[in-house]
Amino acid sequence: MKVLLLRRRIQLYFEVLPLHLLLTVPFALQILGAIALIQWLSWQNLAQINAFVLCLAALVVSIYLGSAIARQIADPILQLSQAACAIANGELNQEIKVQGIKEIKILADSFNLMIQQLKAGFEAMEKTNKELEKHVEERTAELKLSEEKFFKAFWSSPSGMAISTLEEGRFIEVNESISQILGYAKEELIGKSSIELNLWVDERSRIQFIQILRQKAAVHNFETQFRHRAGTTKAIEISAQIIRLDGQPRLLCVCSDITQRKISEAQLQASLHEKEILLKEIHHRVKNNLHIMANLLDLQSDAIQDPKLLEVFTLCQNRIHTMTLIHEQLYQSENLAKVDLGKYIHRLVGNLYSSYNSNANRIILKIEVESVPLNIETAIPCGLLLNELVTNAFKHAFPHNRCGKVHIALHQDATEQLHLTIWDNGIGIQADFDWQNSPSLGLKLVHILSKQLKAKVKFNGTNGTFFRFSFFELLYKPRF
Ligand SMILES: Nc1ncnc2c1ncn2[C@@H]1O[C@H](COP(=O)(O)OP(=O)(O)O)[C@@H](O)[C@H]1O
Ligand SMILES: [Mg+2]
Repeated sequence: MKVLLLRRRIQLYFEVLPLHLLLTVPFALQILGAIALIQWLSWQNLAQINAFVLCLAALVVSIYLGSAIARQIADPILQLSQAACAIANGELNQEIKVQGIKEIKILADSFNLMIQQLKAGFEAMEKTNKELEKHVEERTAELKLSEEKFFKAFWSSPSGMAISTLEEGRFIEVNESISQILGYAKEELIGKSSIELNLWVDERSRIQFIQILRQKAAVHNFETQFRHRAGTTKAIEISAQIIRLDGQPRLLCVCSDITQRKISEAQLQASLHEKEILLKEIHHRVKNNLHIMANLLDLQSDAIQDPKLLEVFTLCQNRIHTMTLIHEQLYQSENLAKVDLGKYIHRLVGNLYSSYNSNANRIILKIEVESVPLNIETAIPCGLLLNELVTNAFKHAFPHNRCGKVHIALHQDATEQLHLTIWDNGIGIQADFDWQNSPSLGLKLVHILSKQLKAKVKFNGTNGTFFRFSFFELLYKPRF
């Protein structure tokens, strides 16, 4: 190293040397000119010899001065050149101290400034480099840790997990759970594709799975069937996601054996269906029994001559029929737990209208009801209540063939409260009539049913007869 530097110094010295010569030559030429002049004058006298000696002295002084000036210029340049070489070799701790010529001093100062800036630049770069290295190290450690965690979860997952190639679906890694689900040992699965293993029971399902994967780059809870090694069929739920592993796109599949769940679901569905049929059967039988009772009353009334008693029989038959309709509607509908009250009102009022009004044009019926599904607990008292009040309107509101209107409305507000209105513009009931304490069975029943519905009742008998019941659907009370 030392030798190398020494060589370099020598080389630099020779590079600078011509500059010395360049500066010394004009002086030397001047001196030589003087000598030539002296010779031309010839050596005639002592004065001439003295002049020659003087000239010679002047020559020596000139050479010395030329050399000194040359050194003053060349030395700082040499210093600069050496410092530049040192910087090129990575030694940034250089400082050039120059005395003398102003221009070279400025050059040296600029050089020193440049060295400082270079040094600061290098230091900043080194710092950034170190930070970058630290960051890369941290990220690598994090990545390693997360990869370790992933594989820990992969191996110990109770769900079947597999990593396969994207194009052919060849298994690269499989866990123990998937081996158990499919009945193949890990070695039998790795390197094989699902097609080679003949896993998919339904080819269309496999195509659909690939289509979803292509469209969304992921598949969630895809239900299909896989063939077990033993030949049996397993219901499988697969979720898949494209991931990058070791820089390669791979398919990560998670699958669960849902065979048992599917069997239980089918059993549950079957039992639910069975219960629905049973419930329909019960409603059908209740309806039939009520119908038989109504028919029995009808048969019994054949022997009655008293018109008042006959009317009582008819009213009873109507009340039974009101309940019959509810059960009939229940077993005919999809929802066995709820009756559409709007639909029910249309049927019930329609039946009453046709049995009480032989002259269709005398009473105009207006039904404005919303479709409101109600449980049987609420629907039965509603139906009976309607039966009493609509019957009263047809029977008492328009005596002596008077004409008029009967209006029935059902509305459910935002709070789910129901508002049932029965109004007629008939003769009305006297103002001081206490309907809640009526001795007659019809209004007594209305009072009892409104209490059962926990309804707020508005009554007005002055301008026709007006009843409004506001109530909520009654909650089902479990009995078993
Ligand atoms: N809409 C109505 N218009 C006129 N009068 C009515 C009306 N509703 C009830 N009434 C009167 O109130 C009475 C009591 O009615 P209710 O208790 O149903 O017994 P019923 O209908 O068997 O007579 C009726 O007899 C009738 O005089
Ligand atoms: Mg009545």
